[in-house]
Amino acid sequence: MRIDAISIFPDFFQVLDISLLGKAQEQSLIQFKAHDLRTFTEDKHRTVDDTPFGGGAGMLMKPEPWGLALDSVLTENSVVIFPSPAGVPFKQATARELSSKEHLVFACGRYEGIDQRVLDYAQSRAEVREISLGDYVLNGGEVAAVAMIEAIARLIPGVIGNALSLDEESHSEGLLEYPSYTKPASWRGMDVPDVLLSGNHAEIAKWRKEQAMEKTRRIRPDLID
Ligand code: ADE
Repeated sequence: MRIDAISIFPDFFQVLDISLLGKAQEQSLIQFKAHDLRTFTEDKHRTVDDTPFGGGAGMLMKPEPWGLALDSVLTENSVVIFPSPAGVPFKQATARELSSKEHLVFACGRYEGIDQRVLDYAQSRAEVREISLGDYVLNGGEVAAVAMIEAIARLIPGVIGNALSLDEESHSEGLLEYPSYTKPASWRGMDVPDVLLSGNHAEIAKWRKEQAMEKTRRIRPDLID
């Protein structure tokens, strides 16, 4: 998969060089590149923002650098993602769907957002998604994009060493994951549940399912509804 990110702060994406995603890049499972939006400006001050028509607080991102930046990365198979608190909520199902795409472009806005014509233009050239990481406001799309890229990329075959671990994690079956324990069996007066030491795989599976249900009902009843 090829992933491009366009931002005025491309350094935000350096974390993707670490750990499993860094390794995935080395193995060419992912080709990632961060682009500095300011390199697509054509004025002396490298301006990327301006005041909104109609008034209102803050500054908006100007369309011209975005047009040139998008033109430089878009292909016939691109999906353009605009991270935005006004977007559709990002879910595990979104990550799963996007993990099968050939090319993702993350267009990361700052300030009060991006001129709407940039989204309309992108839509005329590619599939476009406006996606929110959650119901809170970040200072820009970069942190949201990094989170989405990690959630998407780890589902690409070969990125996670043990693919089986993807089947049993939270949200893989619409439930939160059951509690897990490792050695020692007793620590600071707290014992690992007996069933996990029993060797009875059917009983262990049953216990884990019950725990997942109970935890989901308690913490995230909306997932069960
Ligand atoms: N940009 C600012 N806030 C955001 C959010 N909650 N999700 C995605 N992008 C954002």
